[in-house]
Amino acid sequence: MTSVAPRTRPAFNLAASWYVALTSRQLTHKPQSVDLFGRRLVAWRDRDGRPVLMPRACPHMGASLADGKVVDGQLRCSFHHWRFDGTGACAAVPGAGHIPRAARLRPYPTLERHGYIWAWYGSEEPLFPLPELPALAAGTSRRRGFRLADTTNATVRRILENTYDPDHLVALHGLDVAGPLGLRMLDGPHETPDHGPPIAHEAWLGAELTWPRYAGRLGAVTRLLGTNARRFVLRVDGWPSGQRISYYADGVPQYRLLLATTPIAPNRTVQHIAVTIERTGRFWPDLLHYAISRLEVTAASNQDLPVFNTIEPGDRHGIYLERDRGVRTFRKHYQQWVERVSDHA
Ligand code: FES
Ligand SMILES: [Fe+2]
Repeated sequence: MTSVAPRTRPAFNLAASWYVALTSRQLTHKPQSVDLFGRRLVAWRDRDGRPVLMPRACPHMGASLADGKVVDGQLRCSFHHWRFDGTGACAAVPGAGHIPRAARLRPYPTLERHGYIWAWYGSEEPLFPLPELPALAAGTSRRRGFRLADTTNATVRRILENTYDPDHLVALHGLDVAGPLGLRMLDGPHETPDHGPPIAHEAWLGAELTWPRYAGRLGAVTRLLGTNARRFVLRVDGWPSGQRISYYADGVPQYRLLLATTPIAPNRTVQHIAVTIERTGRFWPDLLHYAISRLEVTAASNQDLPVFNTIEPGDRHGIYLERDRGVRTFRKHYQQWVERVSDHA
């Protein structure tokens, strides 16, 4: 693969990758104004219901296409009724004999999966497929889940590097365990069988975080609830803009988590979390398991958010300790995909 990235540092340190543009629910039959990638965009659904994401300014005189209307599967500008189809081409100019050649908008590659509308950023064609998320794809009868979406003042890189940072689990999240936390960067996406199909190798960055049984007050509570274990594993399969995470207690899956991002502007990012928990069919244990997982994930996110909202802007480097190698490896991986961006328009 050749990179045509310019030598100048882009104003927006964003990796070429798949991002959440908006949720499926947010996009009904009405065009939606979307601020994404530092750009003013419009999202709408074409004749087949497929999402289209393209620049918001009408090429005629710049009216906002988000104020337009979808008519016969085409987006009609409110100002002079020019119409655009799902490929971004101008399909009609009322009262004119011909359509000007320049009257076209370039849509972003988009996909609708698992309740999210994903957009590819960085090049005309995606450089790797959207990772599969089997935990979110499966029927709801065997699973239960919840979703969070929080807007932060942090960059995409800041939000995602957090997962590869075991020390903050102890310091910020107060994780009290009976021994040291381990971090192992994985060298190939060899699969735990129920985790999901491999992510495109070049885009993938895997890690395993492990810790022994919970101690202190956490240990007492989890012992009481029967949720303590000898060994906990957080398996991370990441790509430049998101992660698929599985959490195991003594080898038994506890929950699966998707972490995804919406880069609104350089220091404005939505953190999306979607959690699924398998059901066993036993009502009370399932309910308890669900409630604990939800509490744990929400509490952890509420501890991270104040840091994300007040941290220094931008993607700065810091003083690295040997223990920060996870963060450092992720940063390098991320920057490789920033280099691949060929479209700074
Ligand atoms: S500005 Fe959109 S049709 Fe004129
Ligand atoms: Fe965290």
